[in-house]
Amino acid sequence: VANTAEVQAMLRAVELAALGLGATSPNPVVGAVVLDSVGAIAGYGFHRRAGDPHAEMVALEVAGIRARGGTCVVTLEPCNHTGRTGPCVAALREAGVARVVYAVDDPTPAAGGGAAALRAAGVAVEGGVLKHEAELVNEVWLTSVRFGRPFVTWKYAASLDGRTAAVDGSSRWITSEAARADAHRLRAEADAVLVGSGTVLADNPQLAVRKAGLPSRQPLRVVLDARVRVQPTARVLDAAAPTLLLVAADQSDGPAAERLRSAGAEVVGVPTAVGGGLDVAAVLAELHRRQILSLLVEGGAQVAGSFLAAGLIDRVVGYLAPMLIGGDGVATLAGPGASSIDSALRLRLDHTVLLGGDVRLTARPIRAGTE
Ligand SMILES: NC(=O)c1ccc[n+]([C@@H]2O[C@H](COP(=O)([O-])OP(=O)(O)OC[C@H]3O[C@@H](n4cnc5c(N)ncnc54)[C@H](OP(=O)(O)O)[C@@H]3O)[C@@H](O)[C@H]2O)c1
Repeated sequence: VANTAEVQAMLRAVELAALGLGATSPNPVVGAVVLDSVGAIAGYGFHRRAGDPHAEMVALEVAGIRARGGTCVVTLEPCNHTGRTGPCVAALREAGVARVVYAVDDPTPAAGGGAAALRAAGVAVEGGVLKHEAELVNEVWLTSVRFGRPFVTWKYAASLDGRTAAVDGSSRWITSEAARADAHRLRAEADAVLVGSGTVLADNPQLAVRKAGLPSRQPLRVVLDARVRVQPTARVLDAAAPTLLLVAADQSDGPAAERLRSAGAEVVGVPTAVGGGLDVAAVLAELHRRQILSLLVEGGAQVAGSFLAAGLIDRVVGYLAPMLIGGDGVATLAGPGASSIDSALRLRLDHTVLLGGDVRLTARPIRAGTE
């Protein structure tokens, strides 16, 4: 069983892991703390981005000779394979670490098996410490590895009565500058952002990251455009970031698709769903093939409704402005929805914060077996 110092170190390791959020794709976020032989912190570190040293390596480097006979506390089972960097299991053994405490088993066949290899080498190993906290910080990567699809965040901005636009379609600006800047940060953290053709035709958004101080990495812009209605002049096709237009499979070689390709867009055919529109699971499979781990669905109501209907929303981030629109203002979600309260998707409210007079809510579906 882990002692108090090890549990404290794991809490710190989870915080360290979070520092890598949005930067490590396609790798996990990982934090590590090395305790010396009497349980004092000798080193710590986190995985900054793919290709950089793993968290254990960074922490061992800081700890130096003090790692000998000590304990490595790490949020993910140490890897046992040589990828872009060497196996952490070998580094831990060379450093003379006597004990390894980790939170989450590595589910990848290639990198897993680290715990068993360490035990075989005579190192004491304890897994599952603060597993829930460490799984939450790594939810994006774990979703990708376990389910073979990106982690999906649905983001929306609405009035307090859940409207995204007034009857005349006007929607600028419902939320404050601070809330919009925060939403921009969400975009910068994602590997890809996605909207439907309805949003492109109505708003002509650019969907690129443009705020100063944010990382220069641009998420892939993805548009669901089954009937190829997006025009080659749409701002989403500009040079600010790469764009992927997903169209119905039987449209992908047509003249409209060719015109879009000439405008620089990548156009790919995807199977359609029974009721029209693209098959959402097939869309996610296409993005998974492109090593997209995190997807931000930015609307509109129809596309978001399709993700809800397919059970493919992992996190909801809502920005609610203290404003009432009422009447026939546009709802945040279209589609059939729940026919009764019993079949509504129940969420767990994980976080709320005030942002420039608005409130941001973060919630996740309550899934059987996870609560
Ligand atoms: N406040 C907010 O947070 C927010 C965010 C975004 C948008 N909006 C507003 O929402 C409005 C547009 O909403 P919308 O619902 O018409 O547009 P949308 O959801 O962006 O696009 C709907 C279109 O996407 C295409 N599509 C392809 N696959 C689909 C699928 N699986 N499910 C659903 N649609 C699919 C369909 O056209 P094809 O069959 O031709 O492909 C469909 O007509 C705009 O006025 C915009 O201002 C508000």
